[in-house]
Amino acid sequence: MTHFALPPNAVIGIVGGGQLGRMSALAAARLGYRCHVFSPEPDSPAAQVCAAHTLADYEDRDALRRFAAAVDVITFEFENVSAEGLELLDALKPVRPGPAILRISQDRIAEKSFLNAAGIATAPWAAVQTEADLHAAIARIGLPAVLKTTRLGYDGKGQMMIRRAEDAAGAFAALAPKPLILEGFVDFAAECSVIVARGIDGTASAFDAVENRHRDHILDLTLAPAPFAPGILEQARQIGLQVAGQLDLVGLIAIELFLDKDGRLVANEIAPRPHNSGHWTIEACPASQFEMHIRAIAGLALPPATRHADAVMKNLVGPEDTALWPAILATPGLCAHLYGKAEARPGRKMGHVTTLFPKGSLPGDFGIADALRPLVIEAPRGAA
Ligand SMILES: Nc1ncnc2c1ncn2[C@@H]1O[C@H](COP(=O)(O)OP(=O)(O)O)[C@@H](O)[C@H]1O
Ligand SMILES: [Mg+2]
Repeated sequence: MTHFALPPNAVIGIVGGGQLGRMSALAAARLGYRCHVFSPEPDSPAAQVCAAHTLADYEDRDALRRFAAAVDVITFEFENVSAEGLELLDALKPVRPGPAILRISQDRIAEKSFLNAAGIATAPWAAVQTEADLHAAIARIGLPAVLKTTRLGYDGKGQMMIRRAEDAAGAFAALAPKPLILEGFVDFAAECSVIVARGIDGTASAFDAVENRHRDHILDLTLAPAPFAPGILEQARQIGLQVAGQLDLVGLIAIELFLDKDGRLVANEIAPRPHNSGHWTIEACPASQFEMHIRAIAGLALPPATRHADAVMKNLVGPEDTALWPAILATPGLCAHLYGKAEARPGRKMGHVTTLFPKGSLPGDFGIADALRPLVIEAPRGAA
């Protein structure tokens, strides 16, 4: 079956105005498309590089209708948009990925239920509506465990670790809205992710799995490929392809995984959009995650997600990293990205840098630290 491909100069609507939309729009421009951003913030990172911008709340039905009339296909770059809003849009123009997939990814209970039904392992978990549910869940799952809100969490916000039974009531009271989800704590050896693009015809391409290291709950470093045994990398790719297939995805999805100390992969969450752990693909791959996303939603051919280099990506977070911008620009070998955010608040992702290595020669921690100077990375693991 052949599918209609979006012709050059067509307009892609992007719901959400952040850096993921910005980099998607830049990739779309390279493919000859125009983008129109829908977001409630004026001067957003995405709107700065787009041909048109609808400035309105995600619930503004009139503005959503006008937006749909102005574009040919619609995607989103931000998961905390209104699913109802996307459903309204989907009745007017194709929304890719579909709103049903967004709904799953917006709710940790729906997400974990989907993953388990697909036969993909997660940490043990339980829905928690009342304090009595929490005590029962702790009795079943054990401690330590992580109590999370089911919706609107990001960068570790909306979650608390419960180490001792005495901490349970306080954590329950602190987190809202209910229901919450309790997850067994995974004492992981590493965190990783895999990104998959899937087209209208079901063709799917998975990028190599990467290792992700966080700092203060915010992604700090991505190592591509993850320095794991080849069998584990292949398993991660298979999990990604399976998730994309089961969801009947059209677009791009990231699956965050833990590698536990027994070498097993355990899924954590899914994000049906470009992902921070895929920014390295801009320089290290013939078609980046952003281009693959645009190709998938536009009905274009999806090339294999190949990589011509190894790469390390580091986020530029808050005023500290932003102050290093001139030094970063003066450093050969750092591919530098800034997102156009007016204010460098602490903890805010302002940009990122990627550094490339010949394929197969990703260095160890000291070599990575060296390649990223003047940026300072946390003491390499195993260092005193
Ligand atoms: N069950 C868990 N076991 C161990 N670490 C966890 C667990 N859940 C979350 N974490 C840690 O917290 C981080 C953020 O949690 P996550 O569920 O990915 O939420 P979000 O990215 O939406 O803030 C994870 O990347 C991981 O480092
Ligand atoms: Mg996460």
